[in-house]
This record gives sequence, C-alpha cells and structure tokens, in this order.
Amino acid sequence: MPISSSPSSNDRWTPSSWRARPARHVPDDYPDTAALTAVENELRLLPPLVFAGEARRLTSLLGDVADGKAFLLQGGDCAESFKEFRADNIRDTFRLILQMAVVLTFAGGKPVVKVGRIAGQFAKPRSEPIETIGGVTLPSYRGDNINGAEFTAAERIPDPQRLLKAYTQSAATLNLLRAFAGGGYADLYNIHRWTLEFVKDSPNSARYRELADKISDSLSFMQAVGVTPATHSDLHRVEFFTSHEALLLGVEEAMTRVDSTSGDWYDTSAHSVWIGERTRQLDGAHVEFCRGIKNPIALKCGPTMEADELLRLIDVLNPANIPGRLTLIGRFGHDKIAQRLPILMRALKRAGRRVVWSTDPMHGNTLKAANGYKTRPFDRILSEVRSFIDIATAEGVHPGGVHLEMTGQDVTECLGGARALTEHDLADRYHTHCDPRLNADQALELAFLVAERLRSLREAEPIAAAV
Ligand code: PEP
Ligand code: CO
Repeated sequence: MPISSSPSSNDRWTPSSWRARPARHVPDDYPDTAALTAVENELRLLPPLVFAGEARRLTSLLGDVADGKAFLLQGGDCAESFKEFRADNIRDTFRLILQMAVVLTFAGGKPVVKVGRIAGQFAKPRSEPIETIGGVTLPSYRGDNINGAEFTAAERIPDPQRLLKAYTQSAATLNLLRAFAGGGYADLYNIHRWTLEFVKDSPNSARYRELADKISDSLSFMQAVGVTPATHSDLHRVEFFTSHEALLLGVEEAMTRVDSTSGDWYDTSAHSVWIGERTRQLDGAHVEFCRGIKNPIALKCGPTMEADELLRLIDVLNPANIPGRLTLIGRFGHDKIAQRLPILMRALKRAGRRVVWSTDPMHGNTLKAANGYKTRPFDRILSEVRSFIDIATAEGVHPGGVHLEMTGQDVTECLGGARALTEHDLADRYHTHCDPRLNADQALELAFLVAERLRSLREAEPIAAAV
C-alpha cells in the first residue's frame, strides 16, 4: 500500500523502503517478474562499482563547490547504449571533459570537479509511454538496460537480462576510465595540446586564441620553474567520478551496500546519482530511496518547482545541511530561467540551505526541427548558462556547475555553434539514443564562451578575493 505522506528523517529507511511508495517511470510490465527478481538477486552479489571512500571524497569536493571554492563539470551521453560501447567513445568523452575542465579552471581560477554521465547512465524516463509510427503503436524505448530502441514489438519488451549486460558494460567502462585517469593519459600538457588543435581549426579561432595562449604561457612558466608531470605526478593524474539518474530503483537497491568503515549505506552503482525532473515527488519512491544513501546526490529542478516544495525536498534529502551532499541542477529553459531561478535561490539563501547550484541548459531547450529531428539550438544552451551565471552572481550565490549532454564524437544533433549546423545537417550523424548532445567542438566552444564570462567576473572581483 503506497504511503502518501512525505517521508521525514524519523521514518525508518532501508534500501527497499521505496517499494512502499509510488514509483513513476519504473517499468512494471516485465513479462516475467520472477526473472526480474532473479536478476536483481544476482546483482546483489556482484562487486560494487565504486567504494564508499570515493563517494565521501566527492561529497567533500562538492562541499568546496558549495562554498564557492570550486566548480562542477558534469557531462556525458543522454543515454549510454550497448551499440556505441567502444573504447574510443569512452576515451573521447573523457578527453573532452578534461579539456573543458582545463579551460574552466584557468578562467575561473578554481579547481573543477569532473563527473561523467557515464558507466551506468542507461535508463530513461519518457514523456510518452507509447510511440506510434505508420499506424503501429508500441511501448516507448526506455533505455538499453530495459528494452531495445528498434521499432519492433519484440525489442520493446522489457528484458531483465539487459540489466546484467548494463552492469558489465558499466564495470568495463569504469575500468577504462580509471586507467585513463591514473595512467598518464590525463597529462595536463597533453590535454592542452589537444585544445590548441581545436582552437587552430575553429571558425572562432581568433576569439579563443587569447585564452588558449594564456594557458600555454602558464604551462610554459610551470615547465620553466620545473613543475612538470615528471616532477609532480599529480599533473598527469586526474580525479574523475561517475554519475547517473537513479531511475531503476530495483537495480540501485541491489547495488546499495553497508560501508564497513562508517556503517552507512552507499549506492555503489556510481559515485553520485540524481533524481530526475519527472520523479522528484516528495512522497515518491525516488526521493525515499535517495534520502537514505550517503552518496552525494543531485536533484533536477524544472520550471514548475516552487520554493516551498524545494525547501521540503531539501529537508528530506539533506536534513543535516551538509555542504556537498546535495546539488541542485536547474533545467528551466533559456526563456524561463530568469523568472524561476531567482525565487529559488533567494528562498534557499534566506533559509540558510547549503547546496551546490548547477545548470543543465539542455533539457529545457529541446525542440522538434521541421524535419522531425529532436534538437537543441546552441544559442539557447549558451544563453541559459550565461543567464545562470549572471543570476547567481546578482543573488550572491556561487554559480557552481554545468551539467551537459555531450559526446566526444563529431555528431550532428544540436543546431548552431561556430560551424553553424543547420536543420539540414542533422541527418548526417544523428546517433543519439535519446536526447541530442553537443558534439566535441560545440562542447569545447561552450567551455570557451562560459570561460569568457567567468573571467570577466573574476576581473570584477576585489584583488584579494581573486588570488
Ligand atoms: C536527463 O538528465 O537525461 C533527464 C531526463 O533530465 P530531466 O530529468 O531534467 O528531464
Ligand atoms: Co536527456
């Protein structure tokens, strides 16, 4: 029997207490529920993908973001897929995040916490449960760990074996990411060399060159005074974290384990998970599940989020007001952010709630092109990020982070950017399994343009605060 009251920190939480609450977007049409239970039980015995100490480390880094001392960069596919599971895809997205992070670190004068939407970002909430093509109606595609994208009746049936395949793919992805992060691939000098290639070839080359040259000068200076990867091993290592939407609660429950050091429960499927815009009901299963895990968590906030509702959600998700525990990801749309964000920021500031404020400029800016492709205009994405920075600054709040759907591949899914991608171009390399992503050039371009804004803010700061 679903309970309808909102949870309070006095209510007993267990990894399965969400089962007594209404769960939106969790598939209930598996033809064989015993097979689903058997798979969940198998997952319970599989090794954790991350360990509690890493999740605690991320909470502490995000605490720095909440305190205005760092930035968060979170990005990756809308939905990972089985078909596009290849080493070069993982490498290219990882590299892109590092390149963007260097640009943002330099411009903002603060460390950037790097978090991928990767190694577990499969399941999707869909606005429509069914899809009709040419008079045929089938259940919607809901992510490769649930059903298949192909438009056939057989593919669209939820298959629990897909959950095991997603676990294996996540483990292999994370293994490669850990190797890249620690094994020398992430060398700061290399990363910048790749960025110089991008700048050289960009139609906006002249505009980006000044910042790129400044980074080059700083690196040359460091080299001259003997600060190199050979002398400082930190320069060829990065800390990289994983995240996904905690949508399929049966899987999240199966991956939730007690940490022997602290005795606390951690969801070991990723360092951090978030609650989506469609599943953020105060009395719902997703909020119930996430309140009990000790990982850093995030909450998407769309244009209908009211200040009192957000305060109640924060009371449940971060009752101890721990900085870094909760990240709020605004996804209002370029035309709505100015009406919605200030109200929320003010209410939280007044109530003394310590959160990370981040912006997702993707999900409020989706439209359908005349030729039927779901797309997002680069200008609107950029406009929402700029508004986010300006509004936060005006409200005296740290503009803590950016959350993007992007890929290291040269896809044609979002309109515009320096190469002025048109509706006509979308068909060329439209590979996404769900929402349109920024391609590598568009994402780096966004980093440079956001960097301009961050630098001008820094220049406006009093000297003492800038050092
Ligand atoms: C997503 O991040 O892929 C997503 C579905 O976002 P939202 O919950 O904000 O719509
Ligand atoms: Co999406």
